[in-house]
Amino acid sequence: MKQAQHQPSRRDMRRALTAVAAALAAMVSLTLPIAPAMAQQQKIKIGLMLPYTGTYAALGNAITNAFKLYVDENGGKLGGREVEYFVVDDESDPSKAPDNANKLVKRDKVDVLVGTVHSGVALAMAKVARDNSTLLIIPNAGAGDITGPLCAPNIFRTSFSNWQPGYAMGKIAAEQKKKTAVTFTWKYAAGEESTGGFKEGFEAGGGKVVKEMTLPFPQVEFQSYLTEIAALKPDVVYVFFAGGGAVKFVKDYAAAGLNKTIPLYGPGFLTDGTLEAQGDAAQGLLTTLHYADGLNNPKDKAFRAAYLKAFKAEPDVYAVGGYDAAQLLNVGLTAVKGDISKRNELVAAMESAKIDSPRGPMTLSKAHNPVQDIYLRKVEGKENKVIGVAVKALADPARGCKL
Ligand code: BEZ
Repeated sequence: MKQAQHQPSRRDMRRALTAVAAALAAMVSLTLPIAPAMAQQQKIKIGLMLPYTGTYAALGNAITNAFKLYVDENGGKLGGREVEYFVVDDESDPSKAPDNANKLVKRDKVDVLVGTVHSGVALAMAKVARDNSTLLIIPNAGAGDITGPLCAPNIFRTSFSNWQPGYAMGKIAAEQKKKTAVTFTWKYAAGEESTGGFKEGFEAGGGKVVKEMTLPFPQVEFQSYLTEIAALKPDVVYVFFAGGGAVKFVKDYAAAGLNKTIPLYGPGFLTDGTLEAQGDAAQGLLTTLHYADGLNNPKDKAFRAAYLKAFKAEPDVYAVGGYDAAQLLNVGLTAVKGDISKRNELVAAMESAKIDSPRGPMTLSKAHNPVQDIYLRKVEGKENKVIGVAVKALADPARGCKL
């Protein structure tokens, strides 16, 4: 039997047209860029690329905690926009860094990259940030090239250059009339720049570095080097080690009895976030850094109390770098009311930011690196007590930066 043909009514036609229009609108919204006003209502995507495993794991966690702490204190927002995190463990492995950074930028399409601890990894991140014009904020890694020949309008650092604390410690050692020094570090940008900064400050003040020793990152077989130091008998030893490596070195130095005869100096990374594990071996050590215990400024007091409450742990220098990375980004985003596409205005606001940092007031150099006091600290119990200012308002020389 022949079926009766269904004639569409006007109502059916209207429904069909509405459905087609909705489908078209959905397709258009997928293919066209989102209008700025709508974009500002979306979450801002932050790519946290940091070490969560390996010798720098504790450092990556401290930075992450403090970055999130600031965002939480700011109502879960930066520049009025809610925040969405994309997190990658970079393992402090430079060979994996380009892939890791590219995943965040190209696959996850983050608005901002934040990272990292290890200078070699940060150098790769800086290249990806430059190639893609992605905003990058470095909360720790001190590689000189990043605010030197590779400096760029879209790259900022809230920590230090490796040169800064090294240079300050060299100046102090020379002022103390030490004549000879041995330096020792992992062989990569951070260690070589830190010991290079020490040498510059020490030799400008009349000292002489008689031997520069290195071992591959992240090796911790220190024994043969300690034997060599004992034989060389310098007036002072300056080393760059951090995280788990710093714990082991300080303990090995004391176990070899060298702490009784040759003073051990370093940038503050040698004893920051590590004193619990280093115990007696670290007592009395002198270091230089842009952060210390006992600063007692109102911002530091509030920061320490909030960090302790949130994480049941004392913050360290790494936490300060993470907290200030969030503060700096908030300054930029607030200036453009969350519209990150206004890049020039955002960069200008970040460049002229006056950050109320737990370390004290912080401004940035033309190369986007902190200009800051470098404190002289002494280990007393579980604290890196501030005992003076080694160099006031020290700026990295930013050699090769063309900004
Ligand atoms: C660096 O690789 O730049 C670095 C790592 C740990 C502490 C300080 C600096």
